[in-house]
Amino acid sequence: MARRKLAAGNWKMNGDLATLAEIDALCAEHPEPGCEVLICPPAVLIHAMKARTADCPIAIGGQDCHHAVSGAHTGDISAHQLKDAGASYVILGHSERRAHHGETDADVAAKAAAAHEAGLIAIICVGETEAQRDAGETLDIIASQMAGSIPEQATARNTVIAYEPVWAIGTGRTPTNDQIAEVHALMRDRLQARVADAADVRLLYGGSVKPGNATEIFAIAHVDGALVGGASLKASDFGGIVAALQASG
Ligand code: PGA
Repeated sequence: MARRKLAAGNWKMNGDLATLAEIDALCAEHPEPGCEVLICPPAVLIHAMKARTADCPIAIGGQDCHHAVSGAHTGDISAHQLKDAGASYVILGHSERRAHHGETDADVAAKAAAAHEAGLIAIICVGETEAQRDAGETLDIIASQMAGSIPEQATARNTVIAYEPVWAIGTGRTPTNDQIAEVHALMRDRLQARVADAADVRLLYGGSVKPGNATEIFAIAHVDGALVGGASLKASDFGGIVAALQASG
């Protein structure tokens, strides 16, 4: 199975109904993108975005889900509810969730299992802090986050892994190509032990991806696309990243 490239946008807590005009522009510019295009808006926009993209091959995802199917969890959203609203993906274990909500690898694995159960593709995020990189711990951190965050039933069909160095998110700083290549090679290697079809699992890079650096990043071995925050909010920026991914072949 060839790995289908994926340009994934994470809107975080940005956007409202008026912002969906950006999706219209993206669809108009890339009616047949030649790679998979995903937008993960705030959950309240999923249903409207789904309706708005009926004629456009843009996939929609959530940014988190609860591990339970339903119940007394005020403020939380289940994987089934995301799916029901029109999502086909969910981002899990983003560093902002790990840092601001204390999510552990075990929490992420439980959420990913719930996402799989609901028929969602889980984008599981891993990444080192700057202090961990400076201490030479990057590869150990990535390996241990992968070991703890990827659930038993993960396959290439239901799981994508995103490498997002915490220090590169929203900072305009990116690792060197060699640093990205080193981590992505490790991720591919570590997947062999966990997933039968490891060679087919898509691996994304995330952290300050922009139209200006996307081509270079997409040329790195084992980089099958990007998870994009700030530059996913404007169709002109995200469209440039989609075009770069398409051109990367
Ligand atoms: P950024 O965010 O592209 O704004 O750096 C990436 C992310 O958090 O997924």
